[in-house]
Amino acid sequence: MVSKLKNILVIGSGGREHAIVYKLSKSKRVGKLYAIPGNAGISALAECHSHIAATELDKIVAFVQARPDIYMTVVAPDDPLALGLVDRLNAAGLRAFGPTAAAAEIEASKVFSKNLMKKYGIPTAAYETFSSFKEADAYLNNCPLPIVIKADGLALGKGVLICTTRDEAKKGLQEIMLTQTFGKAGARVVIEEFLTGFEVTVLAFCDGKSIVPMVSSQDHKRALDGDKGLNTGGMGTFSPQTLYTPDMAQKALETVFMPTLNALNSEGRSFKGVLYFGLMIDETGRIKVLEYNARFGDPEAQVILPRLQNDLLEVFDACIDGTLQKINFSWSEDACVCVVAASGGYPLAYQKGKEITLGRLDEDVLLFHAGTVLQDGKLLTNGGRVLGVTAMGKTLQAARQTAYRNLEKIHFDGMFYRKDICKL
Ligand code: AMP
Ligand code: GLY
Repeated sequence: MVSKLKNILVIGSGGREHAIVYKLSKSKRVGKLYAIPGNAGISALAECHSHIAATELDKIVAFVQARPDIYMTVVAPDDPLALGLVDRLNAAGLRAFGPTAAAAEIEASKVFSKNLMKKYGIPTAAYETFSSFKEADAYLNNCPLPIVIKADGLALGKGVLICTTRDEAKKGLQEIMLTQTFGKAGARVVIEEFLTGFEVTVLAFCDGKSIVPMVSSQDHKRALDGDKGLNTGGMGTFSPQTLYTPDMAQKALETVFMPTLNALNSEGRSFKGVLYFGLMIDETGRIKVLEYNARFGDPEAQVILPRLQNDLLEVFDACIDGTLQKINFSWSEDACVCVVAASGGYPLAYQKGKEITLGRLDEDVLLFHAGTVLQDGKLLTNGGRVLGVTAMGKTLQAARQTAYRNLEKIHFDGMFYRKDICKL
């Protein structure tokens, strides 16, 4: 007997949400898809309600309550998770995928996450936390260089400064704590040791009791080629990160992933959803946590989800129901590369409303929309990160070539992209 198809609502409007909606649309168990607010690309697969923002919790709860056909709400972005959208939906008796606000604090407060790692012996960079500008400023007089300054709260991936001189560090601290470039997020700061090595991102499905790491990936966070320019939400990704060996993966599971899940449980903040581990691995193979996120990364999701061969709804259900151990995960052996096309000026001020022209892309290329909107039949830019061009290939090199070849078929005023994504 065929079971009834399930209708799903996805919260968010980026490339990550497009990738989630795309993967859910491939599920044999999924019927209609809704998105709040969605974007032009998502609207080809889901009914978008763009008048509601992802942070309008009351409106979202009312929207779901008014539609008993919605089986599950997937909360993908950081802000609504930190604001407690999953808690609100659950309190109303509604099914939701994502961590509670208490569990999402592992991303929403870097002070909280650093203190958690210290308390439970999870390896990370040595650090100090400050809520007083004067004390933080005095600390910078004698600290080792380079030094890393991080705003405590959510800052769209832009609240991290790597400073090579004392002057730069002091100016950066002023921007975060006094000018409040990141608003309340900069009321407290973490100042930490600069780590060297290679970076790998591992996302993991969690059901509160067990944790299943996905295939590895790497993000390119800086805006410009050669890791120059400001930090962004991410300018491109590739999967797998081939420097991350099976031995390292086993060690990360034992020293970082399981201890983090257990630490959250011990603190009464059981984690269900996707836990994101940003890791630095040094020359001697030592693994340290750079950051946690309480959700799929973006653009990491754009290279990981295309490789997942399981039914995504089944996986989300298992995370909610505590049955992850029953799922046999299967991943494509193919490599995947995503290059982001961004608006001129991003991550600082940029213009919106530029018309996008798309040539005929290769059939197997996935074009994930981020900041796009349809207006009077025209596709326009509507954000800093506009499109993610994602290609699969037998090797990273092959995937990379396909992604770049197809980027040349996309145009809008002020468009730029990094030319060195996955340049191995
Ligand atoms: P985060 O948002 O904390 O991951 O920081 C953004 C990026 O800054 C990371 O992906 C790293 O490239 C870099 N970063 C953060 N913390 C450190 C650190 N302690 N040492 C060196 N690089 C860092
Ligand atoms: N790409 C980094 C993030 O999603 O936080």
